[in-house]
Amino acid sequence: MQEAIILVGGKGTRLRPLTNHTPKPLLNVAGSSFIRHQIAKLTDAGVEHVVFATSYLADLFEEEFKDFSQDLEISYAVEEIPLGTGGAIRNAARLLRGTSADAPVLILNGDILSGVDLRAVLRHHQARVADVTLHLTRVPDPRAFGLVPTDEAGRVLSFLEKPKTPEECVTDQINAGCYVFRRSVLDAIPADREVSVEQETFPQLVAGGGRVFGHVTDDYWRDLGTPLAFVHGSADLVTGRATSPLVGPPAVALIHPTATVDATARVTGGSTIGPHAVIGPRVVVDRSIVGANVTVAEAAQIHESVVDHDSSIGSESFLREVVVGCHSHVGAQNELPAQLRLACGIRIPSLGVRMSGTATACLTAH
Ligand code: GDD
Ligand code: MG
Repeated sequence: MQEAIILVGGKGTRLRPLTNHTPKPLLNVAGSSFIRHQIAKLTDAGVEHVVFATSYLADLFEEEFKDFSQDLEISYAVEEIPLGTGGAIRNAARLLRGTSADAPVLILNGDILSGVDLRAVLRHHQARVADVTLHLTRVPDPRAFGLVPTDEAGRVLSFLEKPKTPEECVTDQINAGCYVFRRSVLDAIPADREVSVEQETFPQLVAGGGRVFGHVTDDYWRDLGTPLAFVHGSADLVTGRATSPLVGPPAVALIHPTATVDATARVTGGSTIGPHAVIGPRVVVDRSIVGANVTVAEAAQIHESVVDHDSSIGSESFLREVVVGCHSHVGAQNELPAQLRLACGIRIPSLGVRMSGTATACLTAH
């Protein structure tokens, strides 16, 4: 039986306020929670049992899957105190069903949208009789990731998590957050304390001469951990640049059947419009996620942004690369700049924020 562990215990701080009440893997991406896309991919790869390594808002995972009845069994390994990525893997291993010391266990970070063929990673691992096999990808700027140089045979030479100096950036090859561990190697991770697989386990295995191999591919790959990556990942699933068994044929937008979109509005770039949302006349929504019960008034423009559920955007407001928390209100004619993240329940009055053009006349009495 092929088994897998998904690491889903992180707090998702870079995605706040979206992650204030919802763990990152349960956020909606192209019409389904992200973890459901991962589960579908695991099922397609022949995985029959998956353990979720949970911690932050752990109960919500069991809630999400309480009615799940497909050909894949789910177990929950809850950490009262987060154990770090290595500690989480070790803790989740308690719940694996297999007993063979050589069994290959698939491990996924819970925030990676990837086109990698999981069966191919498993085959790569078996063919090299590896202790650990890491899926590797190449990125233009590797500083936010784990650097993994390999030799000609694909053997990992070192592992350096989040390099701090330019001299440390020795490769553009990074850890793509998908591993196969030999079961006995996984069981050797300390069980009683916080362990980082990136800072501790991988460097130690490599230094100790372990058979650690990289499987480099140029498949679609994105870590959805930041707001911009999150909206781009969702849009890529809708437009077909990235694929998931849960998403239909490529489309310009995914509009929930209960949403209302005015005939003069333009919803493009792989945007998602959630249940009961109302999109007004001449509105533009491009490469964005608009949540359930959101209203967007006439001629507003939303680009590469997330508007979380139960919020409203006033007429002629302009948003680019913005996250609007749930139950917020952005009044008319605001212009919200890139990287702004509005907390849940915030209210911005009409003409409250502008970046360009003439600022409004003073609204207060002196
Ligand atoms: N259960 C549990 N417990 N899960 C955890 C914990 C913990 O203490 N800490 C982190 N996680 C989970 C997160 O939920 C996420 O799914 C995964 O582990 C990775 O954590 P991130 O916080 O997303 O790490 P990152 O993106 O900065 O870096 C990681 O991913 C990169 C690829 O995107 C590292 O693995 C890098 O080496 C890698 O390049
Ligand atoms: Mg991440």
